[in-house]
Amino acid sequence: MKSEICNLKLVIKSFGCQMNKLDTALVASSLARAGFDLIDGLKEADVVLINTCSVRDHAEQRVISHLGHLKHIKESRPDLIVGVIGCMAQRLGDKLLEHEAVNIVCGPAQIPQIANLIKEAIEKNKKELAITEQIRKPAPQPDSDALEEFESAYGIDDKAIPGQAFVRVMRGCDKFCTYCIVPYVRGPEVSRPPEAIIDQIKRLADAGIKQVTLLGQAVNCYEYKAAEKTYSLADILANAADIEGIEWIKFVTNYPTEKYFDQILQLMPDSPKVCPYLHMPAQSGSDKILRAMNRRYTAQWYLDLLDKARSIVPDIAIAGDFIVGFPGETDDDFQATVELIKKARYKNCFVFKYSPRPGTTADKRLQDTVPPDVKQARNIELLAVQEKISEELSREFLGKTVKVLVEGPSKKPHLNAAESNNNPQLVARTATDHIVVFNAPESLAGRFATVRITKTTPLTLFAKLTESQE
Ligand code: SAH
Ligand code: SF4
Ligand code: F3S
Repeated sequence: MKSEICNLKLVIKSFGCQMNKLDTALVASSLARAGFDLIDGLKEADVVLINTCSVRDHAEQRVISHLGHLKHIKESRPDLIVGVIGCMAQRLGDKLLEHEAVNIVCGPAQIPQIANLIKEAIEKNKKELAITEQIRKPAPQPDSDALEEFESAYGIDDKAIPGQAFVRVMRGCDKFCTYCIVPYVRGPEVSRPPEAIIDQIKRLADAGIKQVTLLGQAVNCYEYKAAEKTYSLADILANAADIEGIEWIKFVTNYPTEKYFDQILQLMPDSPKVCPYLHMPAQSGSDKILRAMNRRYTAQWYLDLLDKARSIVPDIAIAGDFIVGFPGETDDDFQATVELIKKARYKNCFVFKYSPRPGTTADKRLQDTVPPDVKQARNIELLAVQEKISEELSREFLGKTVKVLVEGPSKKPHLNAAESNNNPQLVARTATDHIVVFNAPESLAGRFATVRITKTTPLTLFAKLTESQE
Protein backbone atom coordinates (compact mmCIF):
# COMPACT_ATOMS: atom_id res chain seq x y z
CA MET A 1 0.00 0.00 0.00
CA LYS A 2 2.93 2.21 0.84
CA SER A 3 3.69 3.11 -2.75
CA GLU A 4 0.22 4.52 -3.56
CA ILE A 5 -0.23 6.69 -0.52
CA CYS A 6 3.40 7.55 -0.07
CA ASN A 7 3.99 11.25 0.64
CA LEU A 8 0.34 12.19 0.97
CA LYS A 9 0.20 15.12 3.36
CA LEU A 10 -1.98 14.48 6.39
CA VAL A 11 -3.40 16.75 9.08
CA ILE A 12 -4.95 15.14 12.14
CA LYS A 13 -6.87 17.05 14.82
CA SER A 14 -8.20 15.89 18.17
CA PHE A 15 -11.37 17.29 19.71
CA GLY A 16 -11.74 15.01 22.75
CA CYS A 17 -10.49 13.55 26.01
CA GLN A 18 -7.14 11.88 26.75
CA MET A 19 -8.47 8.60 25.37
CA ASN A 20 -9.28 10.43 22.15
CA LYS A 21 -5.84 12.08 22.08
CA LEU A 22 -4.21 8.70 22.54
CA ASP A 23 -6.20 7.34 19.57
CA THR A 24 -5.03 10.34 17.56
CA ALA A 25 -1.44 9.50 18.44
CA LEU A 26 -1.97 5.82 17.50
CA VAL A 27 -3.48 6.77 14.15
CA ALA A 28 -0.78 9.37 13.48
CA SER A 29 2.04 6.95 14.25
CA SER A 30 0.50 4.15 12.13
CA LEU A 31 -0.09 6.48 9.17
CA ALA A 32 3.44 7.86 9.44
CA ARG A 33 4.69 4.26 9.25
CA ALA A 34 2.45 3.68 6.22
CA GLY A 35 4.21 6.54 4.43
CA PHE A 36 2.02 9.58 5.10
CA ASP A 37 3.68 12.88 5.71
CA LEU A 38 2.20 14.43 8.89
CA ILE A 39 1.90 18.20 8.69
CA ASP A 40 0.22 21.00 10.70
CA GLY A 41 -1.38 23.38 8.19
CA LEU A 42 -4.62 22.70 6.31
CA LYS A 43 -3.39 24.58 3.26
CA GLU A 44 -1.00 21.86 2.10
CA ALA A 45 -3.07 18.89 3.25
CA ASP A 46 -4.26 16.03 1.00
CA VAL A 47 -6.08 14.30 3.86
CA VAL A 48 -7.65 15.77 7.02
CA LEU A 49 -8.71 13.50 9.87
CA ILE A 50 -10.81 14.80 12.76
CA ASN A 51 -10.97 12.76 15.93
CA THR A 52 -14.24 13.58 17.62
CA CYS A 53 -16.03 13.52 20.98
CA SER A 54 -19.75 13.07 21.74
CA VAL A 55 -19.75 13.63 25.48
CA ARG A 56 -21.58 16.97 25.30
CA ASP A 57 -23.47 18.68 22.51
CA HIS A 58 -20.93 21.51 22.53
CA ALA A 59 -18.13 19.06 21.62
CA GLU A 60 -20.14 17.88 18.60
CA GLN A 61 -21.03 21.41 17.54
CA ARG A 62 -17.34 22.34 17.39
CA VAL A 63 -16.79 19.48 14.96
CA ILE A 64 -19.81 20.41 12.85
CA SER A 65 -18.53 23.95 12.56
CA HIS A 66 -15.06 22.70 11.61
CA LEU A 67 -16.66 20.51 8.93
CA GLY A 68 -18.41 23.62 7.62
CA HIS A 69 -15.01 25.25 7.26
CA LEU A 70 -13.64 22.17 5.46
CA LYS A 71 -16.65 22.14 3.11
CA HIS A 72 -15.76 25.66 2.15
CA ILE A 73 -12.13 24.67 1.48
CA LYS A 74 -13.29 21.70 -0.62
CA GLU A 75 -15.12 24.03 -2.98
CA SER A 76 -11.76 25.04 -4.40
CA ARG A 77 -9.97 21.75 -3.60
CA PRO A 78 -12.45 18.93 -4.31
CA ASP A 79 -9.73 16.27 -4.00
CA LEU A 80 -9.19 16.94 -0.31
CA ILE A 81 -10.12 13.82 1.66
CA VAL A 82 -11.88 14.43 5.00
CA GLY A 83 -12.23 11.63 7.53
CA VAL A 84 -14.17 11.79 10.78
CA ILE A 85 -13.00 9.28 13.35
CA GLY A 86 -13.82 8.65 17.02
CA CYS A 87 -16.88 8.76 19.22
CA MET A 88 -19.03 11.04 17.07
CA ALA A 89 -18.30 8.86 14.04
CA GLN A 90 -19.58 5.85 15.99
CA ARG A 91 -22.64 7.73 17.28
CA LEU A 92 -23.78 9.26 14.00
CA GLY A 93 -22.41 6.79 11.43
CA ASP A 94 -23.99 7.22 7.99
CA LYS A 95 -25.72 10.48 9.03
CA LEU A 96 -22.28 12.01 9.27
CA LEU A 97 -21.27 10.49 5.95
CA GLU A 98 -24.09 12.48 4.34
CA HIS A 99 -22.27 15.70 5.21
CA GLU A 100 -20.92 17.18 1.98
CA ALA A 101 -17.41 17.61 3.36
CA VAL A 102 -17.04 14.06 4.69
CA ASN A 103 -15.41 11.17 2.77
CA ILE A 104 -14.71 8.72 5.59
CA VAL A 105 -16.48 7.88 8.86
CA CYS A 106 -14.52 5.54 11.13
CA GLY A 107 -15.44 4.52 14.72
CA PRO A 108 -12.96 4.14 17.61
CA ALA A 109 -12.84 0.35 17.18
CA GLN A 110 -12.10 0.59 13.45
CA ILE A 111 -8.99 2.80 13.60
CA PRO A 112 -6.71 -0.10 12.59
CA GLN A 113 -8.41 0.10 9.16
CA ILE A 114 -7.79 3.80 8.67
CA ALA A 115 -4.94 3.60 6.12
CA ASN A 116 -7.03 1.23 4.03
CA LEU A 117 -10.12 3.43 4.25
CA ILE A 118 -8.14 6.43 3.02
CA LYS A 119 -6.70 4.37 0.15
CA GLU A 120 -10.15 3.10 -0.88
CA ALA A 121 -11.71 6.56 -0.63
CA ILE A 122 -9.04 7.92 -2.99
CA GLU A 123 -8.83 5.02 -5.44
CA LYS A 124 -12.52 4.26 -5.72
CA ASN A 125 -13.61 7.85 -5.27
CA LYS A 126 -16.38 6.81 -2.91
CA LYS A 127 -17.45 7.42 0.66
CA GLU A 128 -16.27 4.90 3.28
CA LEU A 129 -18.07 3.90 6.48
CA ALA A 130 -16.54 1.68 9.18
CA ILE A 131 -18.30 1.56 12.56
CA THR A 132 -19.50 -1.12 15.00
CA GLU A 133 -23.05 -2.23 14.18
CA GLN A 134 -23.99 -3.46 17.65
CA ILE A 135 -21.83 -1.42 19.94
CA ARG A 136 -22.79 -3.14 23.22
CA LYS A 137 -21.92 -6.63 21.91
CA PRO A 138 -18.41 -7.89 22.72
CA ALA A 139 -16.18 -7.38 19.68
CA PRO A 140 -15.43 -10.52 17.61
CA GLN A 141 -11.97 -11.92 18.39
CA PRO A 142 -10.28 -10.87 15.12
CA ASP A 143 -11.42 -7.26 15.65
CA SER A 144 -10.23 -7.06 19.24
CA ASP A 145 -6.95 -8.74 18.23
CA ALA A 146 -6.51 -6.13 15.49
CA LEU A 147 -7.14 -3.33 17.97
CA GLU A 148 -4.70 -4.82 20.47
CA GLU A 149 -2.04 -5.21 17.78
CA PHE A 150 -2.60 -1.65 16.58
CA GLU A 151 -2.32 -0.34 20.13
CA SER A 152 0.82 -2.32 20.98
CA ALA A 153 2.62 -1.20 17.82
CA TYR A 154 2.46 2.40 18.99
CA GLY A 155 5.81 4.08 19.17
CA ILE A 156 6.45 7.54 20.54
CA ASP A 157 4.46 10.44 19.24
CA ASP A 158 6.65 13.35 18.13
CA LYS A 159 3.95 15.80 19.06
CA ALA A 160 3.50 14.44 22.59
CA ILE A 161 4.87 16.17 25.67
CA PRO A 162 8.52 15.10 25.80
CA GLY A 163 9.24 12.31 28.27
CA GLN A 164 5.56 11.47 28.78
CA ALA A 165 3.20 8.89 27.28
CA PHE A 166 -0.33 7.63 27.78
CA VAL A 167 -1.04 3.93 27.95
CA ARG A 168 -4.57 2.58 27.80
CA VAL A 169 -5.23 -0.22 30.25
CA MET A 170 -8.87 -0.69 29.38
CA ARG A 171 -11.31 0.13 26.64
CA GLY A 172 -15.01 0.95 26.87
CA CYS A 173 -17.22 1.37 29.92
CA ASP A 174 -19.95 -0.67 31.65
CA LYS A 175 -20.94 1.82 34.33
CA PHE A 176 -23.88 3.36 32.46
CA CYS A 177 -24.11 6.65 34.33
CA THR A 178 -27.49 7.72 33.00
CA TYR A 179 -26.24 10.98 31.41
CA CYS A 180 -23.24 9.48 29.64
CA ILE A 181 -22.75 8.54 25.99
CA VAL A 182 -19.40 6.78 26.47
CA PRO A 183 -20.76 3.21 26.93
CA TYR A 184 -22.67 3.64 23.64
CA VAL A 185 -19.73 4.88 21.61
CA ARG A 186 -16.82 3.00 23.18
CA GLY A 187 -18.59 -0.33 23.81
CA PRO A 188 -18.20 -2.82 26.67
CA GLU A 189 -15.41 -2.63 29.23
CA VAL A 190 -12.38 -4.69 28.17
CA SER A 191 -9.17 -4.83 30.19
CA ARG A 192 -5.99 -5.29 28.15
CA PRO A 193 -3.69 -8.22 29.00
CA PRO A 194 -1.16 -7.25 31.71
CA GLU A 195 1.82 -8.47 29.64
CA ALA A 196 0.78 -6.26 26.71
CA ILE A 197 0.56 -3.21 28.97
CA ILE A 198 3.84 -3.90 30.75
CA ASP A 199 5.69 -4.70 27.50
CA GLN A 200 4.43 -1.45 26.06
CA ILE A 201 5.59 0.54 29.09
CA LYS A 202 9.01 -1.17 28.88
CA ARG A 203 9.34 -0.13 25.24
CA LEU A 204 8.33 3.41 26.09
CA ALA A 205 10.90 3.47 28.91
CA ASP A 206 13.58 2.23 26.47
CA ALA A 207 12.66 5.12 24.20
CA GLY A 208 13.20 7.65 27.00
CA ILE A 209 9.71 7.97 28.51
CA LYS A 210 9.82 8.93 32.20
CA GLN A 211 6.14 9.35 33.06
CA VAL A 212 3.29 7.13 31.96
CA THR A 213 -0.36 7.91 32.56
CA LEU A 214 -2.55 4.82 32.54
CA LEU A 215 -5.93 5.46 30.95
CA GLY A 216 -9.36 3.96 31.47
CA GLN A 217 -12.88 5.37 31.83
CA ALA A 218 -12.95 3.69 35.23
CA VAL A 219 -9.26 2.89 35.43
CA ASN A 220 -9.36 1.54 39.00
CA CYS A 221 -11.89 -1.10 37.86
CA TYR A 222 -9.23 -2.70 35.63
CA GLU A 223 -9.52 -6.45 36.08
CA TYR A 224 -7.90 -9.16 33.97
CA LYS A 225 -8.65 -12.77 34.73
CA ALA A 226 -5.85 -15.17 33.76
CA ALA A 227 -5.81 -18.90 34.54
CA GLU A 228 -3.76 -18.55 37.71
CA LYS A 229 -4.56 -15.05 38.93
CA THR A 230 -6.86 -12.04 38.60
CA TYR A 231 -4.88 -8.88 37.94
CA SER A 232 -6.01 -5.50 39.26
CA LEU A 233 -4.73 -2.01 38.58
CA ALA A 234 -2.59 -2.40 41.72
CA ASP A 235 -0.71 -5.25 39.97
CA ILE A 236 -0.20 -3.16 36.85
CA LEU A 237 1.05 -0.20 38.88
CA ALA A 238 3.41 -2.39 40.92
CA ASN A 239 4.84 -4.04 37.80
CA ALA A 240 5.16 -0.71 35.99
CA ALA A 241 6.99 0.72 39.01
CA ASP A 242 9.63 -2.02 38.60
CA ILE A 243 10.50 -0.82 35.10
CA GLU A 244 13.82 0.98 34.95
CA GLY A 245 13.57 4.44 33.48
CA ILE A 246 9.91 4.97 34.43
CA GLU A 247 9.92 7.43 37.31
CA TRP A 248 6.34 8.61 37.65
CA ILE A 249 3.09 6.74 37.05
CA LYS A 250 -0.30 8.44 37.10
CA PHE A 251 -3.71 6.93 36.31
CA VAL A 252 -7.07 8.45 35.33
CA THR A 253 -10.07 8.45 35.73
CA ASN A 254 -11.21 6.68 38.90
CA TYR A 255 -14.73 5.52 39.64
CA PRO A 256 -15.64 5.79 43.33
CA THR A 257 -15.62 2.17 44.50
CA GLU A 258 -13.99 0.32 47.39
CA LYS A 259 -12.93 -2.62 45.25
CA TYR A 260 -9.10 -2.64 45.02
CA PHE A 261 -9.09 0.89 46.49
CA ASP A 262 -6.79 0.11 49.46
CA GLN A 263 -4.35 -1.92 47.36
CA ILE A 264 -4.08 0.84 44.76
CA LEU A 265 -3.77 3.68 47.28
CA GLN A 266 -1.26 1.77 49.44
CA LEU A 267 1.18 1.78 46.52
CA MET A 268 1.52 5.56 46.80
CA PRO A 269 3.30 5.66 50.17
CA ASP A 270 5.07 2.38 49.34
CA SER A 271 6.46 3.35 45.92
CA PRO A 272 7.89 6.77 45.09
CA LYS A 273 6.93 6.15 41.46
CA VAL A 274 3.17 5.92 41.95
CA CYS A 275 2.10 9.55 42.08
CA PRO A 276 -0.08 10.74 44.99
CA TYR A 277 -2.80 12.05 42.72
CA LEU A 278 -6.38 10.82 42.42
CA HIS A 279 -8.89 12.10 39.86
CA MET A 280 -12.15 10.66 41.18
CA PRO A 281 -15.30 12.54 40.08
CA ALA A 282 -18.29 12.75 42.42
CA GLN A 283 -20.59 14.36 39.76
CA SER A 284 -23.07 15.58 42.42
CA GLY A 285 -23.43 16.01 46.18
CA SER A 286 -27.15 15.21 46.26
CA ASP A 287 -28.09 11.59 46.99
CA LYS A 288 -31.28 11.99 44.97
CA ILE A 289 -29.34 13.18 41.91
CA LEU A 290 -26.60 10.58 42.38
CA ARG A 291 -29.32 7.90 42.32
CA ALA A 292 -30.85 9.39 39.19
CA MET A 293 -27.35 9.41 37.66
CA ASN A 294 -26.89 5.70 38.57
CA ARG A 295 -23.68 6.59 40.41
CA ARG A 296 -24.16 3.79 43.03
CA TYR A 297 -22.95 5.74 46.10
CA THR A 298 -24.14 8.47 48.47
CA ALA A 299 -22.40 11.78 49.11
CA GLN A 300 -21.37 10.68 52.62
CA TRP A 301 -20.02 7.37 51.38
CA TYR A 302 -17.96 9.23 48.77
CA LEU A 303 -16.58 11.66 51.38
CA ASP A 304 -15.67 8.70 53.61
CA LEU A 305 -13.76 7.23 50.66
CA LEU A 306 -11.80 10.48 50.33
CA ASP A 307 -11.04 10.34 54.09
CA LYS A 308 -9.76 6.83 53.63
CA ALA A 309 -7.54 7.94 50.72
CA ARG A 310 -6.13 10.73 52.89
CA SER A 311 -5.53 8.38 55.82
CA ILE A 312 -3.45 6.12 53.56
CA VAL A 313 -1.74 8.96 51.63
CA PRO A 314 -1.72 12.15 53.74
CA ASP A 315 -0.30 14.38 50.97
CA ILE A 316 -2.59 13.08 48.21
CA ALA A 317 -4.07 15.62 45.76
CA ILE A 318 -7.62 14.89 44.68
CA ALA A 319 -9.42 16.24 41.63
CA GLY A 320 -13.07 15.93 40.64
CA ASP A 321 -15.75 16.47 38.03
CA PHE A 322 -19.30 17.75 38.55
CA ILE A 323 -22.37 18.05 36.38
CA VAL A 324 -24.71 20.94 37.20
CA GLY A 325 -28.31 21.15 36.02
CA PHE A 326 -28.97 17.41 35.80
CA PRO A 327 -32.75 16.85 35.30
CA GLY A 328 -34.63 17.51 38.54
CA GLU A 329 -31.71 19.28 40.27
CA THR A 330 -33.30 21.74 42.73
CA ASP A 331 -31.58 24.55 44.61
CA ASP A 332 -31.33 22.21 47.60
CA ASP A 333 -29.69 19.51 45.49
CA PHE A 334 -27.24 22.06 44.17
CA GLN A 335 -26.48 23.29 47.70
CA ALA A 336 -25.67 19.69 48.62
CA THR A 337 -23.08 19.74 45.81
CA VAL A 338 -21.64 23.00 47.15
CA GLU A 339 -21.36 21.36 50.59
CA LEU A 340 -19.66 18.31 49.15
CA ILE A 341 -17.12 20.47 47.31
CA LYS A 342 -16.36 22.35 50.51
CA LYS A 343 -15.78 19.12 52.41
CA ALA A 344 -13.88 17.30 49.67
CA ARG A 345 -11.17 19.96 49.37
CA TYR A 346 -10.21 19.12 45.80
CA LYS A 347 -7.02 20.41 44.24
CA ASN A 348 -9.17 21.36 41.23
CA CYS A 349 -12.51 20.48 39.68
CA PHE A 350 -14.07 20.39 36.26
CA VAL A 351 -17.68 21.55 36.18
CA PHE A 352 -19.96 20.73 33.25
CA LYS A 353 -23.47 21.83 32.41
CA TYR A 354 -25.74 18.86 31.81
CA SER A 355 -26.10 18.18 28.10
CA PRO A 356 -28.74 15.60 27.09
CA ARG A 357 -27.17 12.87 24.97
CA PRO A 358 -29.46 10.99 22.58
CA GLY A 359 -29.95 7.35 23.51
CA THR A 360 -28.84 7.66 27.14
CA THR A 361 -31.25 6.67 29.92
CA ALA A 362 -31.43 10.23 31.28
CA ASP A 363 -32.37 11.56 27.88
CA LYS A 364 -34.99 8.87 27.30
CA ARG A 365 -36.61 9.07 30.75
CA LEU A 366 -36.03 12.58 32.08
CA GLN A 367 -36.79 16.08 30.90
CA ASP A 368 -33.92 18.57 30.70
CA THR A 369 -35.74 20.74 33.26
CA VAL A 370 -33.06 23.11 34.52
CA PRO A 371 -33.03 26.29 32.39
CA PRO A 372 -29.74 27.31 30.71
CA ASP A 373 -29.33 30.46 32.85
CA VAL A 374 -29.70 28.42 36.05
CA LYS A 375 -27.14 25.89 34.79
CA GLN A 376 -24.82 28.76 33.98
CA ALA A 377 -25.26 30.40 37.40
CA ARG A 378 -24.64 27.08 39.19
CA ASN A 379 -21.57 26.45 37.06
CA ILE A 380 -20.12 29.85 38.00
CA GLU A 381 -20.97 29.46 41.68
CA LEU A 382 -19.41 26.01 41.93
CA LEU A 383 -16.22 27.17 40.25
CA ALA A 384 -16.04 30.13 42.62
CA VAL A 385 -16.37 27.87 45.67
CA GLN A 386 -13.68 25.60 44.26
CA GLU A 387 -11.40 28.50 43.38
CA LYS A 388 -11.24 29.58 47.01
CA ILE A 389 -10.30 26.06 48.09
CA SER A 390 -7.72 25.71 45.30
CA GLU A 391 -6.24 29.01 46.38
CA GLU A 392 -5.91 27.90 50.01
CA LEU A 393 -4.39 24.57 49.06
CA SER A 394 -1.99 26.17 46.56
CA ARG A 395 -0.81 28.63 49.21
CA GLU A 396 0.45 25.72 51.31
CA PHE A 397 3.14 25.23 48.64
CA LEU A 398 4.63 28.68 49.19
CA GLY A 399 8.37 28.46 49.98
CA LYS A 400 8.43 24.69 49.46
CA THR A 401 10.89 22.90 47.21
CA VAL A 402 9.25 20.41 44.85
CA LYS A 403 10.27 18.04 42.07
CA VAL A 404 8.62 18.64 38.71
CA LEU A 405 8.62 17.05 35.28
CA VAL A 406 9.05 19.78 32.67
CA GLU A 407 6.62 19.78 29.72
CA GLY A 408 8.05 22.63 27.64
CA PRO A 409 7.47 26.35 27.03
CA SER A 410 4.31 27.71 28.67
CA LYS A 411 1.52 29.34 26.63
CA LYS A 412 3.23 32.69 27.30
CA PRO A 413 6.93 31.82 27.04
CA HIS A 414 7.99 35.49 26.90
CA LEU A 415 6.77 36.13 30.47
CA ASN A 416 9.63 37.12 32.81
CA ALA A 417 12.14 36.09 30.13
CA ALA A 418 13.90 39.48 30.18
CA GLU A 419 14.73 39.14 33.90
CA SER A 420 15.79 35.51 33.47
CA ASN A 421 18.70 35.64 31.00
CA ASN A 422 16.17 35.37 28.18
CA ASN A 423 15.11 31.93 29.36
CA PRO A 424 11.49 31.26 28.43
CA GLN A 425 8.72 30.55 30.89
CA LEU A 426 8.36 26.76 31.11
CA VAL A 427 5.40 24.74 32.30
CA ALA A 428 5.84 21.64 34.43
CA ARG A 429 3.82 19.41 36.73
CA THR A 430 4.41 18.01 40.19
CA ALA A 431 3.76 14.38 41.12
CA THR A 432 0.45 15.64 42.54
CA ASP A 433 -0.34 17.03 39.06
CA HIS A 434 -0.09 20.68 40.13
CA ILE A 435 0.89 23.06 37.33
CA VAL A 436 4.14 24.93 37.96
CA VAL A 437 5.67 27.67 35.80
CA PHE A 438 9.23 29.02 35.98
CA ASN A 439 11.86 30.48 33.69
CA ALA A 440 14.66 28.17 32.61
CA PRO A 441 16.33 26.89 29.43
CA GLU A 442 13.96 25.15 27.03
CA SER A 443 16.34 22.18 26.98
CA LEU A 444 14.79 21.11 30.30
CA ALA A 445 11.67 19.89 28.45
CA GLY A 446 11.16 16.21 29.22
CA ARG A 447 13.47 16.34 32.26
CA PHE A 448 12.95 16.49 35.99
CA ALA A 449 13.84 19.65 37.87
CA THR A 450 13.70 20.87 41.43
CA VAL A 451 12.03 24.22 41.98
CA ARG A 452 11.14 26.48 44.89
CA ILE A 453 7.61 27.90 44.92
CA THR A 454 7.68 31.70 45.14
CA LYS A 455 4.09 32.69 44.39
CA THR A 456 0.76 30.89 44.08
CA THR A 457 -2.58 31.37 42.37
CA PRO A 458 -5.51 28.91 42.56
CA LEU A 459 -4.40 26.83 39.58
CA THR A 460 -0.75 27.77 39.01
CA LEU A 461 2.33 27.67 41.19
CA PHE A 462 5.10 30.10 40.23
CA ALA A 463 8.64 28.96 40.96
CA LYS A 464 12.37 29.43 40.65
CA LEU A 465 14.64 26.68 39.39
CA THR A 466 16.97 25.31 42.03
CA GLU A 467 18.31 22.20 40.28
CA SER A 468 17.83 20.30 37.03
CA GLN A 469 18.40 16.63 36.33
CA GLU A 470 19.13 14.44 33.34
N1 SAH B 1 -15.04 8.09 32.67
C1 SAH B 1 -14.76 9.29 33.28
C2 SAH B 1 -15.03 10.52 32.45
C3 SAH B 1 -16.10 10.52 31.45
S1 SAH B 1 -16.46 11.96 30.56
C4 SAH B 1 -15.48 9.30 34.59
O1 SAH B 1 -16.43 8.58 34.79
O2 SAH B 1 -15.09 10.05 35.44
C5 SAH B 1 -15.80 13.28 31.52
C6 SAH B 1 -16.78 14.05 32.31
O3 SAH B 1 -17.76 14.62 31.47
C7 SAH B 1 -17.57 13.26 33.32
O4 SAH B 1 -16.87 13.05 34.50
C8 SAH B 1 -18.80 14.11 33.53
O5 SAH B 1 -18.59 15.03 34.57
C9 SAH B 1 -18.91 14.86 32.22
N2 SAH B 1 -20.07 14.42 31.42
C10 SAH B 1 -20.31 13.21 30.90
N3 SAH B 1 -21.49 13.18 30.25
C11 SAH B 1 -22.01 14.43 30.34
C12 SAH B 1 -23.23 15.05 29.90
N4 SAH B 1 -24.14 14.37 29.22
N5 SAH B 1 -23.41 16.37 30.16
C13 SAH B 1 -22.49 17.07 30.86
N6 SAH B 1 -21.36 16.53 31.31
C14 SAH B 1 -21.11 15.23 31.09
FE1 SF4 C 1 -19.46 7.75 31.50
FE2 SF4 C 1 -19.91 6.90 33.94
FE3 SF4 C 1 -18.47 5.40 32.25
FE4 SF4 C 1 -17.44 7.66 33.22
S1 SF4 C 1 -17.98 5.83 34.43
S2 SF4 C 1 -17.41 6.97 31.10
S3 SF4 C 1 -19.22 8.99 33.38
S4 SF4 C 1 -20.64 5.90 32.06
FE1 F3S D 1 -13.61 10.72 25.22
FE2 F3S D 1 -15.57 12.15 24.32
FE3 F3S D 1 -15.32 9.72 23.48
S1 F3S D 1 -14.89 12.09 26.40
S2 F3S D 1 -14.34 8.62 25.12
S3 F3S D 1 -13.88 11.37 23.15
S4 F3S D 1 -17.23 10.72 23.93
